[in-house]
Amino acid sequence: MQTSVVPESIRTFIPPHPDPAPENLSRRQLASLMRTNNIRVWSQRAYEEEVVVRRFFGRSSVLFNAPEAIRHVLGDHPESYGRTRATLRILKPRLGEGLFTSEGPAWRHQRRTLAPAFTPRSVELLIPHIRSATAEMIGSLAAAEKKRVDLFPIIQRLALEIAGRTMFSLEMGRHGSALRDQIMRYGQRLGRPHLLDFVVPIGLPTPYDWARAWFRRGWIRLIDQIMAERLKAKTHANGPRDLLDLLMAARDPESGEGYSPSQLRDQIATMILAGHETTAVALCWSVYLMAHLPEVQERIAHEAAAMLPDSGAEPPLSKLTYTRAALDEVMRLYPPAYVIVRAARQPDEVAGVAMKPGDLAIISPWLLHRHRKRWHEPDAFIPERFLPSAPAVDSFAYLPFGVGPRVCIGAHFALTEATLVLAELIRSFRIELVTSRPVLPIAVVTTQPDHAPLFHLRPR
Ligand code: HEM
Repeated sequence: MQTSVVPESIRTFIPPHPDPAPENLSRRQLASLMRTNNIRVWSQRAYEEEVVVRRFFGRSSVLFNAPEAIRHVLGDHPESYGRTRATLRILKPRLGEGLFTSEGPAWRHQRRTLAPAFTPRSVELLIPHIRSATAEMIGSLAAAEKKRVDLFPIIQRLALEIAGRTMFSLEMGRHGSALRDQIMRYGQRLGRPHLLDFVVPIGLPTPYDWARAWFRRGWIRLIDQIMAERLKAKTHANGPRDLLDLLMAARDPESGEGYSPSQLRDQIATMILAGHETTAVALCWSVYLMAHLPEVQERIAHEAAAMLPDSGAEPPLSKLTYTRAALDEVMRLYPPAYVIVRAARQPDEVAGVAMKPGDLAIISPWLLHRHRKRWHEPDAFIPERFLPSAPAVDSFAYLPFGVGPRVCIGAHFALTEATLVLAELIRSFRIELVTSRPVLPIAVVTTQPDHAPLFHLRPR
């Protein structure tokens, strides 16, 4: 259990969250909640116990909250636990055979090939794109006449703009709305799990699979079009300038192979989708929580004013320690990826539970990060937990980016982007809430806010 690290002077703030579900939900209620809000399927036991076993459509679905069990599944035996049928059905039409959806030797080849594009040195190359897009957003917010700002959609557009610029060095003016349109359309219907996704074997297409295949044609056309435009504008003169350059130059260190055009397209789709929505969600929850906490904003503004150069020089991100701690705490309370699910590929035993092939291992950052036995005041917002002076946090108990060989490849990039955007935004404005209706999380693909509150931004 983490001991208290809250300074006496800071009042404890408990951000809104749904009550646990009743103990005895029916199968029908469970299936419906899985389509509409996964967080609401868990009863109080899931926040208190180490293992919770359920039967779901003839299979065991086992929630693991014990760090040793999580280490076993995600860290030590990744080859025994793969992506589930429903995950592949839902994600492949958008991500194709990219890193997220591949397994076995194909995954290993892709991971080795991609890794150099996501090292801290490579991410540094992308910082000017992040800063330019953020400065433009702040400029237009400062120039706007309106007193009330619908900040969440603005943050979502910024995250997509950053994904576009870091990937293609292209401003997303021309393509942003088409990309957003396709992403939203898919997310609202086909991107949600249906009963058939769980029960029909993967080789047998369901009506949803047909609709997803149809969607894929338009999606591929759009990504190909953006890539073609970028390649026309390309000059190699000054070395790589974006992720596309890095991916085109990427070679498997063992075989020396690079990517074919269709593999390149699938990686690009994967990076845009896996990266932008998750980072946008982290930022939306950050501004929402900050709006309740003027004293936290003051600390961030102060730190940003001292540490962030106005332009040009590289920002020393490692010195934005308080901003980063606040972000870590936001992602503890509202982890953008609320659950990580694996299907057992072979018989195994974990934490005393016998797993049969097809059984599901569920690791939920949402539950783990609020587990009653692991955290002091689990529902309270306390950034001090993550300051360098606090006791180290167990990486099998706090895992917004997953853990083990399939840990998020974009984690450093996402943290760089979110820390910079948050610091720049709060250095420029005092953020206040106009509306008082509590914002609650809805988890279908990511942990989304249930509505977009209005904010008041006061220039500093
Ligand atoms: C706050 C932002 C982000 C969060 C919370 C997040 C979270 C995660 C999590 C939890 C996983 C592990 C899933 C699993 O084990 O099944 C993951 C994997 C992945 N993420 Fe992220 N992610 C974020 C940003 C990004 C960004 C910016 C990129 C790329 C530009 C990215 C690309 C990926 C990819 C490709 C994988 C699959 C890795 C593999 O299977 O080897 N993510 N992410």
